[in-house]
Amino acid sequence: MTDQAFVTLATNDSYAKGAMVLGVCLRNHKTSRKLTVLIGDDVSQHCRSVLGQIFDEVCEVSVLDSGDATRLAMMKRPELGVTFTKLHCWNLTHYSKCVFMDADTLVLCNIDELFERDQLSAAPDPGWPDCFNSGVFVFQPSKETYAALLNACMQHGSFDGGDQGVLNSYFSDWATADITKHLPFIYNLSSVSIYTYLPAFKQFGHNAKVIHFLGERKPWDYQHSDDDDDAGDEECSSETGSSSLYPDYVQQWWSVYKESVLPLLWKEHTHPLSDTPTVEQESVYVEAAQLEECGHPPAPQTSSQDRKQKWEQGDADYLGEDSFTHIQKKLDSFLK
Ligand code: UDP
Ligand code: GLC
Ligand code: MN
Repeated sequence: MTDQAFVTLATNDSYAKGAMVLGVCLRNHKTSRKLTVLIGDDVSQHCRSVLGQIFDEVCEVSVLDSGDATRLAMMKRPELGVTFTKLHCWNLTHYSKCVFMDADTLVLCNIDELFERDQLSAAPDPGWPDCFNSGVFVFQPSKETYAALLNACMQHGSFDGGDQGVLNSYFSDWATADITKHLPFIYNLSSVSIYTYLPAFKQFGHNAKVIHFLGERKPWDYQHSDDDDDAGDEECSSETGSSSLYPDYVQQWWSVYKESVLPLLWKEHTHPLSDTPTVEQESVYVEAAQLEECGHPPAPQTSSQDRKQKWEQGDADYLGEDSFTHIQKKLDSFLK
């Protein structure tokens, strides 16, 4: 199938890591479709070269930014203005149909059946289910649609400051017109929903096909460990362990990253295109050395005061320090 593709986007090296894991997962699950990554000019040479080894096509595009600080502030995600760049995917007219996937998604099995759906198919957003979530959607590239979307951005902006707002306004009959365009939630299972509706996750979660690490903190921001003897250790803990009620998707993301992506980044580091290592190459070197030394990358630094404040503002670190398993471990240790 050379006229259909999975498409993702990375405007910087952090999201490029996500794209690499996504691309590897799609390959591991033997997709028969092409893989395309759109990149912005901030992506380093080093990462471009690794992306080129995973994806069939690495397309540099101009970064589009809504610049809508007010609406993005409502979502507490000032960095998401650049998600307008996603709209470039409609320019991939050498394909007849594509599936866009955010770079923060993890694919658990072959999902090629998504190509049986038509534009615009997507799963409900967990925050407002009459809107679709734009982390996974089926679309049909078309210069006309791209121009119309860009025009919609200029005329009305986006109600959330990012691509999801403008796409939902443009494909405004998604909620009511055609049920076949509603993807089952298992194709875009947002990690937030595991916490907001745990019984449903326990009932249906084993069918999950795509996990979406929606939210401010991404798997690449988290620490990770290979074992579960880390109870009580703030630095080394993660959602691991046999006591876990659900699979540790952050850990799964890290396994793919460690096994299949880091070796490619490392190879690029030791055989770089240029002689002088860049800042990004140095950071990969440090990351690889840390992984070799203790089996996990550095923990993000958040003071307990900051954590308390974030928790009180309803901004819990659901996947990391405030994760259910972490809290459970703390409670267990108190009870003991
Ligand atoms: N993205 C990017 N650079 C950024 C922010 C976002 O390339 O600085 C891309 C990336 O593909 C990402 C998508 O836009 O997955 C949407 O952003 P994000 O996943 O952070 O939004 P969320 O799903 O958390 O709302
Ligand atoms: C959402 C989507 C993401 C999109 C963002 C901005 O939460 O998950 O894909 O880029 O909103 O609209
Ligand atoms: Mn996302």
